[in-house]
Amino acid sequence: MTRRLLKVFLAFCGVATVVYVMLVMLTASYPSRIALINNSDDIHVYRLSVGDTVAKNRKSRQAKKPELKTPRRGKEKSVQRVAEFSRHSAAADNFVKDDGTELNTPKRGEKTSQPRGAAQTPNSSAADSTITNSVRYLVFVCDGRRSCGGWGDRQRGLVGVYLLAHVTGRRFAMVMTRPCDVINHYVPHLVAWNVPVKVLQAAGLTSNLSLDDVDSRQRLTARLRVMDFNAVYPQTVVYIRTNAEYWLGIRASKLYTPVLPDWARGSRARYFAAGWTRLTAPSPSLQARLDRFLDRIDFDRRTRPLVCAHVRVGHSANFKRETAVRCNITTLPVLWDFLQPWVTNGSDVFLATDSYEVRNLTRHRFGARMLDTGEEIVHVDGRSTAVQDVCHGFQSALLDQLILTRCDVLVTSHSIFSQRAAYLRGRSDNLYSFLKGKITRYFI
Ligand SMILES: *[C@@H]1O[C@H](CO)[C@@H](O)[C@H](O)[C@H]1NC(C)=O
Ligand SMILES: *[C@@H]1O[C@H](CO)[C@@H](O)[C@H](O)[C@H]1NC(C)=O
Ligand SMILES: *[C@@H]1O[C@H](CO)[C@@H](O)[C@H](O)[C@H]1NC(C)=O
Ligand SMILES: *[C@@H]1O[C@H](CO)[C@@H](O)[C@H](O)[C@H]1NC(C)=O
Ligand SMILES: *[C@@H]1O[C@H](CO)[C@@H](O)[C@H](O)[C@H]1NC(C)=O
Repeated sequence: MTRRLLKVFLAFCGVATVVYVMLVMLTASYPSRIALINNSDDIHVYRLSVGDTVAKNRKSRQAKKPELKTPRRGKEKSVQRVAEFSRHSAAADNFVKDDGTELNTPKRGEKTSQPRGAAQTPNSSAADSTITNSVRYLVFVCDGRRSCGGWGDRQRGLVGVYLLAHVTGRRFAMVMTRPCDVINHYVPHLVAWNVPVKVLQAAGLTSNLSLDDVDSRQRLTARLRVMDFNAVYPQTVVYIRTNAEYWLGIRASKLYTPVLPDWARGSRARYFAAGWTRLTAPSPSLQARLDRFLDRIDFDRRTRPLVCAHVRVGHSANFKRETAVRCNITTLPVLWDFLQPWVTNGSDVFLATDSYEVRNLTRHRFGARMLDTGEEIVHVDGRSTAVQDVCHGFQSALLDQLILTRCDVLVTSHSIFSQRAAYLRGRSDNLYSFLKGKITRYFI
């Protein structure tokens, strides 16, 4: 009898363990501490007191593209369904020019009345693209109506929506107008996601749907593991407001893994960097500000490593509306002591932070060796008060992140903003995490 009970108990433990492991796999991000960051709460914006040297050598400055290994598509069986999806999966990349080649071949089922001239250069709008019944859109939305999180949240969400568009054979579009149109800062790179609102409206006139999955309200990441998205959401235009990482669910889906594009098959960091760089390129004004900063510090001819830290404090005098304190300012000496050996060796320290106090204190410690953007600190999602120029402030945050992606030594913060910077930097060497008064190695 007791043996029997024991057996039942052991079986239960086994099942519980399996369920637990599955849950962990579903929700964990690495490092798990960073996964615990409140999704909607990632932010920033600062500005740079940049020199006004004219940008030189822009070419050499172009952000390094992540190496896109081409994993074997071993699992891909020649199942009918797979073939079906493969035909469609280029839709998200419609207008894409990879290696200068048009991918805008009409797909089966699409009305061939589609004007061939509708092929777009990445910069042009898709205004005159065809609206045929067979073109379905998946639209990442972040407008003034509701919160969609800070910059890191948005990056995570929109690359996920792009991937979802890819595997569901939908055309990807993006509407991000909060706090000002993102097109001022990032422009389409390989994917023309700047589909005009009126085109989307016309396409969705008879059939559209809005999903709000911010902080996983719709649990889409989990549902995607078993869901046929187009069967559940057959609407021509589906708008999604989200900050979730759909890659996790899509990768776990039997339906979608066979059609997962090569760029999404690697690690999370690799997938994100590849998706992001397919989608976006810095706008001329953002690129110019980056170039000015890099010129100012003579980046191309540096003889010492550029050392960088992101310190996300959360609630502070300038972000009173934030409730969480992510970094206790009393722990800052730990970070400074960690950075000191590099400074002693002659390195400069670039600091990105959401706190004037952190900036002042760090400047006090390192003097002119500390670099920053020097301007107003703004919250991308509208949580800062009395902001001079919110669009410029938005761009300053994005500039901070771009700079972080160039650092030889990078200390990240309790923030998706610097986690994504680390992903875009693309290497684990000299990568650290500053959390709860401790510095640890961070591997991506
Ligand atoms: C596209 O290019 C034109 C000039 O050809 C420019 O005026 C416009 O600002 C660009 N648009 C974007 C979104 O970069
Ligand atoms: C969605 O469809 C309805 C009709 O069902 C239409 O009135 C509305 O304008 C559409 N909205 C968008 C954003 O396309
Ligand atoms: C920060 O740490 C100090 C010293 O450990 C402590 O007294 C203070 O309450 C902490 N502040 C916050 C906001 O947690
Ligand atoms: C500083 O320079 C010394 C001597 O070259 C070297 O041994 C040390 O590793 C350097 N420290 C850092 C943090 O780079
Ligand atoms: C930071 O320093 C500036 C200039 O010294 C000063 O005006 C400002 O009040 C300081 N802010 C904080 C939060 O310490």
